[in-house]
Amino acid sequence: MGKVFLDMAVSLDGFVSGPNGEDGGLHDWYFAPSGNATLILDELLHGVGAMVLGKRAFGDQPDGFDTPYKVPHFVLSHAAKDTVERDGATFSFVTDGVESALEQAKAAGDKDVCVAGGANVAQQCLKAGLLDEVQLHLVPVLFGGGLRLFDHLGGQRIELERTRVLESPGVTHLKFRVVK
Ligand SMILES: NC(=O)c1ccc[n+]([C@@H]2O[C@H](COP(=O)([O-])OP(=O)(O)OC[C@H]3O[C@@H](n4cnc5c(N)ncnc54)[C@H](OP(=O)(O)O)[C@@H]3O)[C@@H](O)[C@H]2O)c1
Repeated sequence: MGKVFLDMAVSLDGFVSGPNGEDGGLHDWYFAPSGNATLILDELLHGVGAMVLGKRAFGDQPDGFDTPYKVPHFVLSHAAKDTVERDGATFSFVTDGVESALEQAKAAGDKDVCVAGGANVAQQCLKAGLLDEVQLHLVPVLFGGGLRLFDHLGGQRIELERTRVLESPGVTHLKFRVVK
């Protein structure tokens, strides 16, 4: 069975979006990959069998969004909606919690499950010990405010073992195993 990993881009001061909710260049490396970023994208494209994300990360697009990941997407929301299909990707709405979303994502196949954010869903997964790995794309910018990734974790100690560091222009890709 594949692993469950968080994959997010963060500013050097730990934010996943800026003070006004903006991306702030955190994904520039993703949209114009060079160096090891191409390897990272290749890994993601071929290794991920399902995605889990929160409703705010999903946004307000009733027909889903354009994505290179032609896999099932499980979107956490308290509002039930019908599954939508867009260009080979499906978007199903899960109302009964992160464990359920991850179980459904794992049942989609043998490949890895990527938790793609946002911060709220990432924090729930971390707190509940549901992640095997954390992959962060660290961008050397200080936002000074915004949505903090490692917030609301309830004061518990979570140990990570660094397993990989890769440099690309404008970003450092860090991979950690969550020590259980
Ligand atoms: N830097 C990155 O890599 C990255 C990646 C993704 C997103 N982002 C950014 O992160 C921000 C969004 O993150 P966020 O923390 O605000 O929100 P989020 O985690 O994307 O979504 C939170 C929403 O998900 C639903 N939800 C969460 N847990 C649930 C549960 N247990 N049961 C049912 N529904 C649940 C709720 O939606 P309802 O309100 O519908 O009930 C909740 O309001 C955006 O600014 C986005 O741009 C950054």
